[in-house]
Amino acid sequence: MPQPEKRTHYCGELRARDEGQPVVLTGWVQRVRDIGSLAFVDLRDRSGLVQLVADQETPSLLEEAKKLKSEYVIQVKGVVRLRQGEAINRQLPTGEVEVKIEELKILNTSRITPFVISDPPQAAEELRFKYRYLDLRRPSMQKNIILRHQAALATRNFLSEKGFLEIETPFLTKSTPEGARDYLVPSRIHHGKFYALPQSPQLFKQILMIAGFDRYFQIVRCFRDEDLRADRQPEFTQIDIEMSFITREDVYELIEELMDRLFCLNGEKISHPFPRLSYSEAMEKYGSDKPDLRDPVAIEDLTALAPELGSEIINNALEKDGLLKGLLVKDGGRYSRSRLDKLQEEAKALGAAGLIWIKKSEGQLKSSLKLPADRLLLLWEKMKAEEGDLVLMVASPKETAVKVLGEFRKNFIQEKINAGKIDKRARAFCWVTDFPLFEWSEEEQKIVSMHHPFTSPNPADVDFLETDPFKVRALAYDLVLNGYEVGGGSIRIHQPELQARIFKILGLSPEQAEEKFGFFLEALTYGAPPHGGIALGFDRLVMLLCGEDSIREVIPFPKTTSAMCLMTGSPSPVDPHQLEELGIKIIKP
Ligand code: AMO
Repeated sequence: MPQPEKRTHYCGELRARDEGQPVVLTGWVQRVRDIGSLAFVDLRDRSGLVQLVADQETPSLLEEAKKLKSEYVIQVKGVVRLRQGEAINRQLPTGEVEVKIEELKILNTSRITPFVISDPPQAAEELRFKYRYLDLRRPSMQKNIILRHQAALATRNFLSEKGFLEIETPFLTKSTPEGARDYLVPSRIHHGKFYALPQSPQLFKQILMIAGFDRYFQIVRCFRDEDLRADRQPEFTQIDIEMSFITREDVYELIEELMDRLFCLNGEKISHPFPRLSYSEAMEKYGSDKPDLRDPVAIEDLTALAPELGSEIINNALEKDGLLKGLLVKDGGRYSRSRLDKLQEEAKALGAAGLIWIKKSEGQLKSSLKLPADRLLLLWEKMKAEEGDLVLMVASPKETAVKVLGEFRKNFIQEKINAGKIDKRARAFCWVTDFPLFEWSEEEQKIVSMHHPFTSPNPADVDFLETDPFKVRALAYDLVLNGYEVGGGSIRIHQPELQARIFKILGLSPEQAEEKFGFFLEALTYGAPPHGGIALGFDRLVMLLCGEDSIREVIPFPKTTSAMCLMTGSPSPVDPHQLEELGIKIIKP
């Protein structure tokens, strides 16, 4: 078996300045071009590609090079030389040079791969995930994973410089509520008892504050059994942070500086402070608690114009506690009738009774609403629309109106990005603050925490906790980037009485609170400092840093949307003996 010798360079590092350098390279054969008297071999490693060349000066090497196949692992000794004239490849960082092969060793062969290893990917996601080790060889994946490493390192360095300690917390633990289902791990020693994998280290990080560590961080895996999407995985990584004796401002400042540090890895300059919006403002103006501010267009309230419009449809909608909301679609006047009908259907699917549109062509206002032109003009002018634009309106209860227009706004932004009208890589950060402490869960038919039950109510609203809980604002904040929630946190409750009050409002009896969180309530009684923190979705941040649309592109071994690992075949059945040991019986559905 040929043994590798010490490598002198990575393939992608070689440049014209290295002319005449003897080198030892190792890597994978990307492709071989046999042109009779010459053979060119593209050699790839994690740093990039370089061209190797063999010629008739050494016929045996030439023959050997010609026999190489894609994905063979080889080592070459050779000399860097300049390429001349047309042979220079300006597309390739190493394109000014090539390595004349002087010695060639095949370290391993490869079967024909199930797909070609090149960018963009040439295979369906299922196949890529099954052979993830081949998919990861693609230059763009190597780049993403390397940037992920750099982002983790920059985070560690930054937080360490700021006096934070990286402290590990357990994976085999008790349920930590973050609104998803738990992944459970059965105990072999205690039959019928289960550990839960942490949905986040929330309680442990708060306990570390009680323990006096003052500034904690961890780049930590979290586990949530929830429906998966392009920006969600069942196991994902957070930059988890907690600090004592702070206000929200301290968190904003720290995180803005951290974003600076991270985006600097891309050579990007982030401007801060980031704009701040209250939750109600975000919902009102953008119909979303994670607004994409790359486009300044906002939802307008037109309700005040209703009396002058005299439209029965609108008046009927407004009678039932409704509002009239409008969205300006620049250049939307060209939308065809069938496109408008489709939007109408989408609005209905989202719960609106219908969608009203107005456009103007050749000076004439046209609308789905049968109203005289002077009244349509009131709406048109209020929306500051111009010839060629489109105004979309929904008259319905507020939540529905902003939801529909917010959804449309999001889709229109995506269209503008696709059409190159908005720079995909522009960065629009914002803080969304003052979330409601509670919300109503239709699914569970009960009051639930909007973030988690350890979030402090705004002191100004504490008196309403029992009487008007939905009015209570939380000292919570989300970090939003380009329409993605990249982080969330809050100032926490540090008084045991207040924490017990919150559990009670959430419908936990004192016994249930004791059973679930007794250890934590007790810890709060031993001098818990005021504290707060945040967790950033590391995968989402890296996805945005890399300019990808899915976190699966920045996670080395992701799960599919049905939570499977196609490479290892997990989840998989287990040995009956193992189940017996755990005291578990499977009930077939
Ligand atoms: P939260 O639940 O908001 O807060 O999570 C923090 C951030 O983690 C990311 N995230 C996810 N990323 C990928 N896949 C998922 N399934 C997933 N779920 C969440 C998001 C989110 O903003 N303990 C609190 C934080 C705190 O209060 O300090 C928490 O976990 O980017």
